[in-house]
Amino acid sequence: MTREKPCVLIGVTGCIAAYKTCEIVRGLQKAGVRVKVVMTEHATEFVGPTTFRALTHEPVAVGLFDDPSDPIHHISLAQECDVFLIAPCTANVAAKIAHGIADDLLTTTALATKSPLVLAPAMNVGMYEAAATQENFETLRRRGVRFIDAASGYQACGDVGRGRMEEPEAIVSQILTLLDDLFGVKRDLVGERVMVTAGPTVEPIDAVRYISNHSSGKMGYAIAEAACARGAEVTLVSGPVSLAAPEGVTVVPVKTACDMLEAARSAFAESSIAIFSAAVADLRPANPSDRKLKKGSDDASLASILLVENPDILKTLGWEKKPGQVVIGFAAETNDVIENARVKLEKKNADMIVANWVGEGRAFGQDDNQASFVLHEEVIDLPSMSKRDLADRILDQALLIAR
Ligand code: CTP
Repeated sequence: MTREKPCVLIGVTGCIAAYKTCEIVRGLQKAGVRVKVVMTEHATEFVGPTTFRALTHEPVAVGLFDDPSDPIHHISLAQECDVFLIAPCTANVAAKIAHGIADDLLTTTALATKSPLVLAPAMNVGMYEAAATQENFETLRRRGVRFIDAASGYQACGDVGRGRMEEPEAIVSQILTLLDDLFGVKRDLVGERVMVTAGPTVEPIDAVRYISNHSSGKMGYAIAEAACARGAEVTLVSGPVSLAAPEGVTVVPVKTACDMLEAARSAFAESSIAIFSAAVADLRPANPSDRKLKKGSDDASLASILLVENPDILKTLGWEKKPGQVVIGFAAETNDVIENARVKLEKKNADMIVANWVGEGRAFGQDDNQASFVLHEEVIDLPSMSKRDLADRILDQALLIAR
């Protein structure tokens, strides 16, 4: 944690639920959180800034130019907070944030902050269910904005349905869990650059066909996310997967093994830790066609696709390793797991191989993973755990190797 107390900035927007925000402020304060408040002009119609000033013992800003001592108030607020919670969040403010509109202090701060943004929507059921609102929520979710979903029930306007802001206690508890997740983790990778390869590669046969494999990319994405949470600057060189880019991670999307080698090589040069979790296709069609091959006229080409070997990315870069760099690979095996991993450790000049047994539905696409760390001096067998926990264990081991 960078400061003594975590700081939550609460944005209050113009909705009757604004009175409940006072309880959120108190709940977070009781848990030892520093709370600051920023309000929209409309919010002040429901609760006055004086109320929040009295509760927080902090200045409460509304206008962009309210604080003459701080001409760039939205930037300082954005940088100061560990979490930016907007509660209640109206349909209008969610729409503005989704579209990058920044026309007051609250929305400029939302656009400027790099801290997690959490929205607790509150609005009439019709507005809540409107396609525009739902699409805005979807856009925001895709960008990593977190939601404390609105509850159903009796609404101030007399309607009954979804759109009531969640109860203050539930909001406080979710924010405290988030703070724990964010700051309960170690920050032992600050200053390190970590490169991760992930996902499958896709090797074209023709304009529509390709050779690939079942890799989901989950393991590599979990490693990237864990390294980033621990403070590293992370580059994730990823084959095509259906996972969202982890927040704060630089993703370099690639398709083929040759592209992956090129992207990995440039990230590797800058990295202190490199983890190769991609399931690289070992072979690729030698002469991919840039048009679709047709049955009948192209029968001969379709019947015998000449394959050539792809570069081994881990092996190539493993042998380019400089002193101080840690190189970790994976070995997905169906038999003789440890023996095969040992061979890969030596052949690819890695510092460690994370060996796992695959087959019968294990590893590929699953959330859990059972692995062994194969090092030059020892083998460490791990119990089955989530890919996210395994990611942290791999990073722990990488730091031990580095020292
Ligand atoms: N790897 C790589 N480039 C390749 C093949 C593999 O970077 N062309 C890396 C993988 O990312 C993994 C390790 O090498 O970290 C081992 O991959 P794996 O598929 O288990 O082994 P292979 O070397 O391909 O050998 P085999 O398929 O014969 O087991």
